[in-house]
Amino acid sequence: MRSAPRPSRDGAAAVPTVRSWPVLGSAVPLARDPLGFVSSLRTRGDVVAIRVGPQRMYVINDRALIRQVLVDQAYSFDKGRQFDKLRPWWGNGLANSTGEFHLRQRRLMQPAFHRQQIASYLPDMCEAAEQYVGSWPSGRAIALDEELYVLTLSMVLRNLFSTSAEDRSLARVQAALSVILKGLLWRCLDTTDRLEKLPLPVNRRFTAALTDMHAVVDDIIARHTADRADLLTMLQQARDPDTGEAMSRQQVHDEVCTILITGSETTRSTLSWICYELSRRPDIQHRVQAEVDDVLAGEPLRAEHVERLPYTRSVITETLRAYPVVWLLTRRALTDVQLGSYRIPEGAVICYAPYALQHDPELYPDPEHFDPDRFRADAAPSPAGCPAGRRPRDAFIAFGAGIHSCIGEPLAWAQTVTILATLARHWTLAPAPRTKVRPAARMLLLPDRLPLVLHPRRAPAPGAT
Ligand code: HEM
Repeated sequence: MRSAPRPSRDGAAAVPTVRSWPVLGSAVPLARDPLGFVSSLRTRGDVVAIRVGPQRMYVINDRALIRQVLVDQAYSFDKGRQFDKLRPWWGNGLANSTGEFHLRQRRLMQPAFHRQQIASYLPDMCEAAEQYVGSWPSGRAIALDEELYVLTLSMVLRNLFSTSAEDRSLARVQAALSVILKGLLWRCLDTTDRLEKLPLPVNRRFTAALTDMHAVVDDIIARHTADRADLLTMLQQARDPDTGEAMSRQQVHDEVCTILITGSETTRSTLSWICYELSRRPDIQHRVQAEVDDVLAGEPLRAEHVERLPYTRSVITETLRAYPVVWLLTRRALTDVQLGSYRIPEGAVICYAPYALQHDPELYPDPEHFDPDRFRADAAPSPAGCPAGRRPRDAFIAFGAGIHSCIGEPLAWAQTVTILATLARHWTLAPAPRTKVRPAARMLLLPDRLPLVLHPRRAPAPGAT
């Protein structure tokens, strides 16, 4: 039960502070059980202050106030220290930029993610999904999360940058990205900025992976030809409507890096959670298979099928609700900001947890229960008055909201539906015996591992190996 806020001397309500350990603050519960900790804060107040080491942070729990930060007062915040730290390594691509510059880049890149453009990628996506998913081994446990990574990364490389499936970039990006993502996480967490400068093997591996990643991106750009209307062509040909200026070579490079980092691990993680739930819920898996069988009528998936799979889509929405891969995000106040009855001082670090919001029982009754039917058109409205069957605007923020919302959302949907439908056509998923899958809330929310057994649903086509 939340208590009413007490007023401070300037009339604004005093932000309740969560009591914590000396020196470390709330770092211990946050490290020990990150999802449990952020969810427990929800009941403490609309806004609560915590301390993590020396850093004071304002955690926004109320969905209307989160919307204020992301949408209504978005220009009073930037992305904060986390992103300042990423910029020297990752560049000034869309995810790392702010203000006027961000707006300009966003306008230039938006056409590559329009519905029509995504539709033009679909035939290629269906072909890639059929080729990969159909080749997975059957009857024994495989690390499905790793297979899904190769597939989603190869789709991004093929669709957005027109590299071929056999291209050696795939293996290099895959190897580099896993080292980079781990390294970026603890660089963000290190408030001393010192650990990254020590001559440790882990730092040398990070630098080597980053150097290789930048070299692969240069290679992709150098070998690219402008005869396909893909993202890279659009970036190179885009002109600022006011000045007529093109993007610099460095900016094109930074945007390609950004898309590779933001566009593969996110979709792979969501697909991993879907497969995890399907493997433990045969009832849901059978319904997805039945819908896919009905719509595809024995043929491989084609572009026109993708919009005709409503139950499959509600499984994806429920997965994004229950396991939002971007589970925690930060912002920094650029001026003093009034949020409801609270005054947030200039420079303050704000954070909000899509995970905690999307597990609020007022918005989603029985939130730990995985139930795609909550997104059916005829589902009952939730107690907090969220419209039935639709993703309620402020209560579903798996893709963010406002000026920094996910530009890749339409592509993520196209990829996820394509891969899930192809998977359901070929395989029945079962958990590997004697394994327990746990959530790992790091930079993204991933299953810590995903060994699953695939049982074939149909006999191989004549002549297939
Ligand atoms: C299921 C898959 C995905 C999820 C859940 C997801 C989630 C998100 C979220 C929550 C944000 C907002 C971050 C913030 O507010 O600071 C975001 C931003 C972004 N996403 Fe995604 N994403 C997904 C897939 C993709 C894909 C496929 C791409 C590109 C190919 C992509 C590219 C980006 C970029 C460039 C941004 C920064 C946008 C900006 O600041 O203007 N994402 N994503």
